[in-house]
Amino acid sequence: MARMCGIVGYVGSQSALDVVVEGLARLEYRGYDSAGTAVSADGKLTVTKRAGKLANLREALAGTLPPGGADDSPGEDGTPGRSGIGHTRWATHGAPNDRNAHPHTDCTGAVAVVHNGIIENFATLRLELERRGHDLSSDTDTEAVAHLLEEELAKGVGLADAMRRVCVRLDGAFTLVAVYSGEPDLVVGARRNSPLVVGVGEGENFLASDVSAFIAHTRDAIELGQDQVVELRPTGVRVTEFDGTPAAVTEYHVDWDVSAAEKGGHDYFMLKEIAEQPTAVADTLLGRIGADGRLSLDEMRLTDDELRDIDKIIIVACGTAYHAGMIAKYAIEHWTQLPCEVELASEFRYRDPILTRSTLVIAISQSGETMDTLMAVRHAREQRASVLGICNVNGSTIPRECDGVLYTHAGPEIAVASTKAFLTQLVAVYLIALYLAQVRGTKWGDEVFAMVQLLGTMPQKVEQVLETIEPVRELARSLAGERCVLFLGRHVGFPVALEGALKLKELAYMHAEGFAAGELKHGPIALIEQGLPVVVIVPSRARPILHDKIVSNIQEIRARGARTIVIAEEGDEAVVPYADTLIRVPAVPTLLQPLVATVPLQVFACELATAKGHDVDQPRNLAKSVTVE
Ligand code: G6P
Repeated sequence: MARMCGIVGYVGSQSALDVVVEGLARLEYRGYDSAGTAVSADGKLTVTKRAGKLANLREALAGTLPPGGADDSPGEDGTPGRSGIGHTRWATHGAPNDRNAHPHTDCTGAVAVVHNGIIENFATLRLELERRGHDLSSDTDTEAVAHLLEEELAKGVGLADAMRRVCVRLDGAFTLVAVYSGEPDLVVGARRNSPLVVGVGEGENFLASDVSAFIAHTRDAIELGQDQVVELRPTGVRVTEFDGTPAAVTEYHVDWDVSAAEKGGHDYFMLKEIAEQPTAVADTLLGRIGADGRLSLDEMRLTDDELRDIDKIIIVACGTAYHAGMIAKYAIEHWTQLPCEVELASEFRYRDPILTRSTLVIAISQSGETMDTLMAVRHAREQRASVLGICNVNGSTIPRECDGVLYTHAGPEIAVASTKAFLTQLVAVYLIALYLAQVRGTKWGDEVFAMVQLLGTMPQKVEQVLETIEPVRELARSLAGERCVLFLGRHVGFPVALEGALKLKELAYMHAEGFAAGELKHGPIALIEQGLPVVVIVPSRARPILHDKIVSNIQEIRARGARTIVIAEEGDEAVVPYADTLIRVPAVPTLLQPLVATVPLQVFACELATAKGHDVDQPRNLAKSVTVE
């Protein structure tokens, strides 16, 4: 499970099923490849789950639980404790089918669990459970939790104690919510590094991934802290640490409306998705770095021997994903010494690319459905090349047709312009490049380890950029009247410049161009006129040969009247005299700089478009997923 998914829990006198399904509808933006519910009443659990959108679950529920039917009607005797849980899934472990949909149950069917996050040690737990005779019926990491709870409950403790005991055995990030037929008035939740909010009502209480799920019922909420377990009863809420010590809770009042709540209080999904980037980057790294610091990408389905046989890499992608591919080339060639080409997917099969059995084609696609990329994948496979997908949507067409896949864990991206998916695509290509270097021995183990450690610090660096972003917003607003903005970069800064220009085109409908800074003097410099805003991405000073050249380029354009907006790392004083506006980003290794340098450009485009009154989530003429060639 990625950290998106939507979770709902309810206990009270309303129909638990109705409240849960209504909550799931509000959370569907968090994941929509399967959904499920578990309702506890009259000493038994009723679990219903279906692949696909929530509509499929609703149909199933209508069939199995007729409205007002025995399993769903409020207790005739006014029994309070009607409890239920629900889940809308964004798959990362196991295909998005009925079997892998949540809730998951134990061997006895008495406990049901929903989960959001990734349990890193699930393979070990699963093996242990199977050895002890449990029968696991899904491919998910979540199901292990249901069986671990079963074992604890069998020792005679209640669900809350069982949950506390199980949580300390789990590694990774998780939100878990469970119901147990033996305690029908209780819903138990647990949280580590993944969101979970309590909604406090009268005679009823709610749990959800975010407040939008229960805002129609209550605006009083409690945010759970790290490593806490919550017990939800109709009569109240109790929060403890994992060791059972009572935790202090602070209630707060939510004054958002439903649509703002879905967007986490942001005006647009794009702003929310930009803000989620540190988490998306962290999630994409999660579970891929072993305790010994070595990378393990077994999920890729390509063997180390196959990877050793590769003699050329070709990357195919469209739009923003293509820019991720351009950056990948620098990393792959530097770390693996394998020649790497990058091709627009729509051009690939029309130019007779030279493909052999030892060519690895990497297809990058957020949606996994882009037709141009899919056709490139098919062409590569017909030519017998190995094809590896980097995709964000589990079970989509491209990963299904590839030989191997590495999923990015950005969670659903709703805004048309790609932001968090792009950053996670970069993480994925860095991981693949370093893994190839590890397997092929082109870098020493300690060199790979050092770079992996640095990758691990990137979520904080991205966070740092977001914390200091306000001047970029002001700058964007001040430029809303401009007709054209140019972007310049060198090395990995060149694709970043292209991405900055693309964002401005798609969102602000402005003429924007990205250029390789060295190419400027061969033509584009003629475009420079008095006051023209030019954004320059300055490479790390760790590569003086690149850095110094771009400082000269800034001087050249400034001398011709450009208004220079310079993105440079902290401590870079050489650029100060030539920057009309200076945007600082944290100092990071050259190859990783796109992870921080792209963020101000996303915010810049988003803010400028908003200042012009455009809907940034749904720009004109564009579609999120282009399924025609
Ligand atoms: C569309 C979107 C872009 C996206 C491109 C590739 O054009 O508007 O934001 O980068 O498709 O999409 P994919 O899902 O293949 O990454």
